[in-house]
Formats: sequence, C-alpha cells, structure tokens
Amino acid sequence: MSTAVQKTTTPKARPAENDLGFGRFFTDHMLTLQYEPKQGWHEPKVVPYGPLPMDPAAGVFHYGQALFEGLKAFRAGDGTVNLFRLDEHCARMARGAPRLCMPVVEPSLMRSLILDFMRVEQDWVPRAPGTSLYLRPTMIATEGFLGVRASQRYTFFIIASPVGAYYAGGVKPVRIWVEREHTRAAKGGLGAVKAGANYAASLLAASRAKEKGYDQVLWLDAEKHDQVEEVGTMNLFALLGDELVTPPLSDSILAGVTRNCVLQLAKGYGLKVSERPLAISELTQSSKSGALKEVFGSGTAAVISPVGELSWTGGSLQVNKGEVGPIAGRLYEEISAIQRGGRPDTHGWLTKI
Ligand code: COI
Repeated sequence: MSTAVQKTTTPKARPAENDLGFGRFFTDHMLTLQYEPKQGWHEPKVVPYGPLPMDPAAGVFHYGQALFEGLKAFRAGDGTVNLFRLDEHCARMARGAPRLCMPVVEPSLMRSLILDFMRVEQDWVPRAPGTSLYLRPTMIATEGFLGVRASQRYTFFIIASPVGAYYAGGVKPVRIWVEREHTRAAKGGLGAVKAGANYAASLLAASRAKEKGYDQVLWLDAEKHDQVEEVGTMNLFALLGDELVTPPLSDSILAGVTRNCVLQLAKGYGLKVSERPLAISELTQSSKSGALKEVFGSGTAAVISPVGELSWTGGSLQVNKGEVGPIAGRLYEEISAIQRGGRPDTHGWLTKI
C-alpha cells in the first residue's frame, strides 16, 4: 500500500516559535486511512489539513468509539528529525483498538504511515529550544448507524501540532487536588487504553479543581478511593526514602510511554524502583515521617511534572517545600536531552526520519 500525497497549494504562515503553547497550531497536511470490512485498511493519503466529511450518525459522535495516541518529533542540533519511541506508541494503539471493538492498524503499517507523513511535514518540526512537533494519530468510527454496536467503518488520521515546552517558564511544581468524588476509570473499564472517553470522564473534576485554584487532580481507585492511580493526564511517581514507587499497570491505568522511560532510567540512579500499590494514607504518613521526598507525573506532553502540593477537604501536604526535586529534575533533563540528541540514545528510543 503506497501513500498518495496531495500537497497544499496554500501553505500556512509559520507561528512564532517562542509562543507555540500546546495544540494551538496545526501543520499544512494530515494523513488519512479508511477501513471497511471487505477491504480492510486502505487508501492512505496525505492531503491538505482540513475538515473531515462526516455522517452525523457516525458512531464516534454517539457511542464514543475514538482512540488516539500522542507522540513527538524533535529536531536535533544537526538539523535532523527524530521521533521519540515510535514503536511503543504504535504498539499501544494496536493494543487499545480491540478494547473499543475497533480494527487494529498493524504497528508496522502505523509506523510506515507516520514516517510517510513526517517526510512531508518535517520542515514543521520547530527549532527553538524546548519545542517539538506533537503528532496525534487518531481512530474514529465513521459508519452512519444508530443501533448500538461496533461501527463497520473507521477513519484513521494523523494531524500534527508544533508545540512549545509544556511549562514556558521552565519546569514548575503543580498544585493537585485529591479527587474523592469523581473517578477517571474503574476496574474493567477503559482506563488502560487511550480512549477519548477517558478524557471526557476527567474534565469535570479537572475544571472544578481549577476553580478551587489547583492545576489538576490526583485520581484514586473507583471502588474505595484510597489507592493512588494517576495524576491529571499522567502516570504518577512518588519517591519514598530511596524507593521510587509507581502504581502497577492495571485496567484503570494507562501504560505511559514516559512512565516506561522513567522506570528504565531511575534504575540507573541507584534507586529501588517499585511498581506496587500506593495508598493515599501511605503518602500522608510518609509526608509526616519525612520519608516523602518527591511526587511527580510523567507524560508525553510535559515529560515530567513535579507536584508541589496535594490538598483535599480538610487537609493538605507540601512536597519538597513546593520545589522541583532532584530526581524529577534529573529525569526531565535526561529524557529531554535524549529526545534532542544531546545525549547518546543508548536505549534505542529514537527513529530518524
Ligand atoms: C500526556 O501527558 O501526554 C497526555 O496524555 C496529555 C495529552 C492528552 C495532551
């Protein structure tokens, strides 16, 4: 299957690289691929970025069959472009599709489509320090049919957005509300896959936390609300003494690609690295005893996001005096340097365009 390329005749003006923000600008082109049962995935093409023609009865609008990925391309000092952990993102989307009764885009096909797309769009990878091109591969149900069952037709597409460093003024600790009313994901639900629905489920708690003056929420388990699961849209890590703890993967926790980077790198820092359950009471007790050194989130968008404060109705705790901890800082620097070719890629995380 070869990808047809229709170039735009009206290229966009490039946004200023010192004010990109996150997800505000989009490149000149998008890649689309269609699915229907007889032909399977077919018709890959790169076309000018623009609206998708959609049947208003399409499954994505009514029953939420939508799955996505998020990965980044970085410009190295020598001007070349690298994708970060391309194969892990392709594999994760392939694992997620069956949970939503969606057809799998084979990782080898997704990989080659991303590379086809990047060959057209690579000039859009920004050059300024801290910037990158964020790619958003997405799959949606497009069959127009209102019966509740899996759609027979799908569109897979890739769009891309030049983005700045998530924290414009450098990495800053966030203030987190411990969410005890709403849950992001429950046992047996969709939490382990990058379904749009998980983000829909998170919005109300996040916006209420913002109204209260917090940046994001700490998600607890849906049943007893006592086990720590994720923070905002990220996986969570806590440094307790010299043990770096993250909750084990389950069907309510996303297998973060940056989470996996942290697990690999932290082992080389002389820390005990544990994937084990972490109760909110263990966090509060270790805060009292002085064992709680750092808390941070990990994700593609922000890389590492230190937590400076956790608050709940009737209490709060401060982490590392509200400052960036040494382990969070070191992980941020090291991952960012590998992404930009400033450190050797000893783990094989980069794919050159
Ligand atoms: C990430 O941390 O990369 C996320 O999952 C956020 C993204 C959905 C914008």
